Amino acid sequence: MSAEFVPGLEGIIAARTEISLVDGANGRLVYRGYVIADLAEEMSFEEVAYLLWNGSLPKRAELDALTQELAGSRALTAPAMATLESLPADTDPMDVLRSVVSVQGVEHKLQKPTIPLAIHATASFPTILATFHRLTQGLKPVEPRADLGHAANYLYMLNGKEASPEIVQALNTYLVLLADHGMNASTFTARVIASTDSDLASCLVGAIGALKGPAHGGAPSAVMDQLEQIGTADNAEHWMREARKEKVRFMGFGHRVYRTYDPRAKILKALCQRLNPKFYELASKVEETALALLHEEHPERPQATNVEFYSAGVLQAIGLPTEYFPPTFAVSRVAGWSAHVLEQGSHNRLIRPQSEYIGPAPRKPLPLAER
Ligand SMILES: CC(C)(COP(=O)(O)OP(=O)(O)OC[C@H]1O[C@@H](n2cnc3c(N)ncnc32)[C@H](O)[C@@H]1OP(=O)(O)O)[C@@H](O)C(=O)NCCC(=O)NCCS
Repeated sequence: MSAEFVPGLEGIIAARTEISLVDGANGRLVYRGYVIADLAEEMSFEEVAYLLWNGSLPKRAELDALTQELAGSRALTAPAMATLESLPADTDPMDVLRSVVSVQGVEHKLQKPTIPLAIHATASFPTILATFHRLTQGLKPVEPRADLGHAANYLYMLNGKEASPEIVQALNTYLVLLADHGMNASTFTARVIASTDSDLASCLVGAIGALKGPAHGGAPSAVMDQLEQIGTADNAEHWMREARKEKVRFMGFGHRVYRTYDPRAKILKALCQRLNPKFYELASKVEETALALLHEEHPERPQATNVEFYSAGVLQAIGLPTEYFPPTFAVSRVAGWSAHVLEQGSHNRLIRPQSEYIGPAPRKPLPLAER
């Protein structure tokens, strides 16, 4: 058995999965055999969630059943609603999501994770976020609509009116693209918790906590901040050179696995160019400069634009407030997290790695007076 310490577990295979393949060398993302580019604009989020949970694309009747089940699970329970009403208006929506998912878990106790529970969780994420958003705006929460798809209903509940088909389609594409991504940090977290035979809500709460960090799903808000600070295309190079002197990381660049390009970024870039030309004008200049500077610093270590960079422009065009970018990532990724939790449970072995002790050699504790 190998006992070598690998920082960040880089290159370590921690699970066998049939759910998704992140092919870093070739810039490919595959869900259960389907290349992401073939799913992104053709499939609904519901079809992709079904695929992740069940391993095949749904037939018409299966999709209808899933759509109905999702629609029927959108309403919040009284304890979830009470939690939303009790949280201060300036609470970070990721903290809101984490807290309410935890409260929802109380109801399910230590039930074994199942597809119906995954559907229930997936259906509730948009309602949690939209309800909180409305409450903080002093507006009445909007009841979910069973006749709208997952993306359309999320926007309807946020804004109180239906979004245009183009905007709904853009959000759907975003949700499809982000739904799963191999053994990323939040999915790994979910699988570790699942491996203890814990419940689905606990796995999701842990995953949300991992996703919140700026090295993972917190990046698109940080992309917006950085673009705001850069201000204009003319200022990009100066700002970015100064930033690197202080070791500031360029948000939306770099990835543990992709070294060529992130296929999701490519699709989102085209979408962003179409929907958010103002953002695109500055962002494409910043992208060009970031890649050039990162290459200049380390030509031997290729860094690519990651999914978060153009996500920011797409989510802005969709009309989401910046602080709702990370939890909207969770609205999508909950499908992947729950698929992994189910997979872990299907042939579980407790995930329990070792640590290498580098502390002091064994020694005798001195009495207080002698220390
Ligand atoms: C995603 C990320 C956490 C991957 O980290 P990682 O796997 O440890 O990164 P790597 O091993 O490729 O590279 C580490 C080195 O590259 C540099 N680097 C990596 N991403 C960088 C970035 N976005 N800007 C500047 N330098 C970067 C680091 O400073 C580090 O250099 P150092 O060793 O001299 O400190 C990292 O690229 C990052 O912080 N990116 C910005 C945040 C972001 O966009 N997150 C969303 C990810 S989808």
